[in-house]
Amino acid sequence: MRKKVIAGNWKMNKVLKEAEQFVADTKDNIPSSDKVESVVCAPYPFLASLVDKAAGTDLKVAAQNMHYEDNGAFTGEVSPVMLKDLGVTYVVIGHSERRELFGENDDTVNKKVHAAFNHQLTPIVCVGETLEQRENNETMTLVENQVKQALAGLTDDQVKQTIVAYEPIWAIGTGKTATSEQANEVCTHIRNVVKEAFSADAAEAVRIQYGGSVKPANVDELLAQSDIDGALVGGASLEADSFLTLVEAGA
Ligand code: G3P
Repeated sequence: MRKKVIAGNWKMNKVLKEAEQFVADTKDNIPSSDKVESVVCAPYPFLASLVDKAAGTDLKVAAQNMHYEDNGAFTGEVSPVMLKDLGVTYVVIGHSERRELFGENDDTVNKKVHAAFNHQLTPIVCVGETLEQRENNETMTLVENQVKQALAGLTDDQVKQTIVAYEPIWAIGTGKTATSEQANEVCTHIRNVVKEAFSADAAEAVRIQYGGSVKPANVDELLAQSDIDGALVGGASLEADSFLTLVEAGA
């Protein structure tokens, strides 16, 4: 049985006080990590404080991005070494907003995934198609290529620890959720791709989240699908109550 992972991706929202208040409001009610992994993906300036405030609780802290080099002349970038040093344990890699707006591609995503494992960070690797690609029936091929390229060169053991987030771009922040069948169909395909490229064991263990307008009203149905092992949630993760409802659904 794969443990569910519910991750709230705050994107570029909140100020430090609000972020700290969120942890204060949620930390005592986060379900045990034996049942579900509960993660907040916060902006860089909040990470040190949130790791400190969530210490000893079942709430884990993720970065929303990082560079793949350990250090050097990369003005404005943050390295896996720095994240690890702060006590961050997960990192979102290749979110569609980073691919669309900041020039990330399958090659940088692959480098970042390797860098994450080199520094004991669990990668949450995002893949997903645009509306146009879905309408042209390119979803399965596109997602297959994204997954293969993102995970290229990993060991089976590393794949088993990876979290893949399937986020159809047309469902992000639009209120349009993929139906649970549509979401599961692609997640099943991703698992088959992992099986083919790695092994049956790796495919059985890899966790696959769905993301795109997940909210308390639809989370149960999505999580009930055979190949959906969690959710990567934007808007509905910003409020403490809503986040707690989502993590409870995964427990
Ligand atoms: O990474 C989560 C995300 O892109 C989905 O955002 O607001 O549709 O839940 P949202």
